[in-house]
Amino acid sequence: MTNSASKKPSSITITRPDDWHLHLRDGATIASVLPDTARQFARAIVMPNLKPPVTTTEQAVAYRDRILAALPVGMKFEPLMVLYLTNDTPPEEIQRARDSGVVHAVKLYPAGATTNSAAGVTDLTKCYKTLEMMQKLGMPFLVHGEVTDPEIDIFDREAVFIDRVMTPLRRDMPELNVVFEHITTKDAAEYVAEADHHVGATITAHHLLYNRNELFKGGMRPHYYCLPVLKREIHRQALVAAATSGSTKFFLGTDSAPHPKGLKEHACGCAGCYTALHAMELYTQAFDQVDALDKLEQFASFNGPDFYKLPRNKDTITLQRESWTIPAELPLANTTVVPLNGGETMEWKFV
Ligand code: DOR
Ligand code: ZN
Repeated sequence: MTNSASKKPSSITITRPDDWHLHLRDGATIASVLPDTARQFARAIVMPNLKPPVTTTEQAVAYRDRILAALPVGMKFEPLMVLYLTNDTPPEEIQRARDSGVVHAVKLYPAGATTNSAAGVTDLTKCYKTLEMMQKLGMPFLVHGEVTDPEIDIFDREAVFIDRVMTPLRRDMPELNVVFEHITTKDAAEYVAEADHHVGATITAHHLLYNRNELFKGGMRPHYYCLPVLKREIHRQALVAAATSGSTKFFLGTDSAPHPKGLKEHACGCAGCYTALHAMELYTQAFDQVDALDKLEQFASFNGPDFYKLPRNKDTITLQRESWTIPAELPLANTTVVPLNGGETMEWKFV
């Protein structure tokens, strides 16, 4: 898989990966960000937290058409659509979603947990008939795993979610396929590792590379602010251990989430890191740091399609050990976005 028997290979070639958690937004923004993803990834699970959210199959099909219309000629990419669960999503919508062939999952945003989550679920037990239909049809349930109780410290919201939501959900719906999205804690990594084959998790590159100190190095650094927020170093290490463990349950999901520069560098800045530009470089760096490049392909290219019961990709991508400077800003519709680590140097380059 690598081109060298030495410990530090100069390049790596792996089966083309997919991104199992991506924000493409809407309107002119799609065309700004989509080529970054489509260059590296064959497919992506496209998050439905638009304004208004994508709550029906009809909306998902129309959104998919807008994405494909924004794809540059000659590029190949398959958007895998997701419905945004509300308190009122009827079970029949899940059947329609399944029949469409283009909707591949349903997402839980606890109301108030993150960007555009106001229409999300206030009490998961209100959705049980719909969840039962998902369980029956094998429709994956993607979970933003944070409680929204303001009494709970923001750094504990994921761990508390396991006790208050995950455990009861799994007890009541044991055959529902659940993806614990963008896990950030040792608690979540252990929970997923110990669960049965119905549970998987995505891990972002930024949560593999950084702990919460990054937010405050030399001042407040809003481009490192995302939700769930970066955690302590012990958690970062647990995520790296999980991603590189060889377990089939952990897979790549960038959570690349573009926000205009002015809304990040703001008195009340938006949550989200733009990583689509250099996603595979970031992941490769994270795996290389712990000499686990031989585990990257399974995490990036095999575990996700296997969990979603989709075919693995056939072609390959190559990354080279080569320094390059990440642009400080990129065009985003009629404004700009700052990529994670903008202006800094990367040691790996996608070729
Ligand atoms: O940081 C985040 N940004 N976390 C999320 O859950 C949503 C995302 C966004 O849509 O901007
Ligand atoms: Zn997300």
